[in-house]
Amino acid sequence: MEIPPELITFLRSSAHVAALTGAGVSQESGLRTFRDTADGLWAQYRPEDLATPEAFERTPELVWEFYAARRLKAGEVQPNAGHFALAEMERHVPHFTLITQNVDGLHRHAGSKSVVELHGNITRIKCSRGCGVFTEWEELPGKAPTCPTCGAKLRPDVVWFGEMLPSDELATAVQAARTCQVFFSVGTSGLVKPAARLPLLAKQIGAVVVEVNAEETPLTPSVDYFFQGKSGEILPELVKAVWG
Ligand code: APR
Repeated sequence: MEIPPELITFLRSSAHVAALTGAGVSQESGLRTFRDTADGLWAQYRPEDLATPEAFERTPELVWEFYAARRLKAGEVQPNAGHFALAEMERHVPHFTLITQNVDGLHRHAGSKSVVELHGNITRIKCSRGCGVFTEWEELPGKAPTCPTCGAKLRPDVVWFGEMLPSDELATAVQAARTCQVFFSVGTSGLVKPAARLPLLAKQIGAVVVEVNAEETPLTPSVDYFFQGKSGEILPELVKAVWG
């Protein structure tokens, strides 16, 4: 794969770099994406039945089981070369912000330190009335545990459709997009806002936008560089070409 020399030179001299990742970066670890294949999660299930507060209200056990299965799978897989390449990039760039839509925790497992989890983390659950967040609980198959304080059902600490993103994380992500010299969009279909707006924010302030994705997306026409293919193959080559 050819990395344009001017991109190599620019990345070497950039102190502020931001990266936004989506489910595609975890695909080579064996985790399903949402939209891009016939076995994508939203191809098999309707998101409105599994990833909304109304769905949890209507069928808490079904929603709980859906996330419990994803949590189990996420705990069984390892980061792939794409995750490790982003952790390596962070070690070379003075101000690097990794913004992820993924809830699988694989970026941290790969050694990334500055990770902004825009959509939460599947390994945490929280009281649906806001009493608190929990990282340990008694798993009763097929049943959502209840809050020890108020008795309400506990739910995955992830952002569902129609919900607000965590404000601190969103503010950090916007700040990174507004101050970066290079913005990477990796393994995301670029369909879900506000995350999908971040590369465009970076473009507006004159950053170089680089997309690494298995297929073209609505963002592709706006980027400066588009590398089509697997992030687990492209990112390691790019990091090697720039930082040796
Ligand atoms: N390398 C690079 N890109 C890949 C790979 C890979 N190995 N495998 C798949 N892709 C690309 C697909 O082509 C697709 O464009 O990753 C993208 C994944 O897109 P989605 O499945 O839509 O996932 P994502 O963009 O993360 O979804 C955003 O939607 O369902 C909500 O909250 C959920 O965070 C999620 C958000």
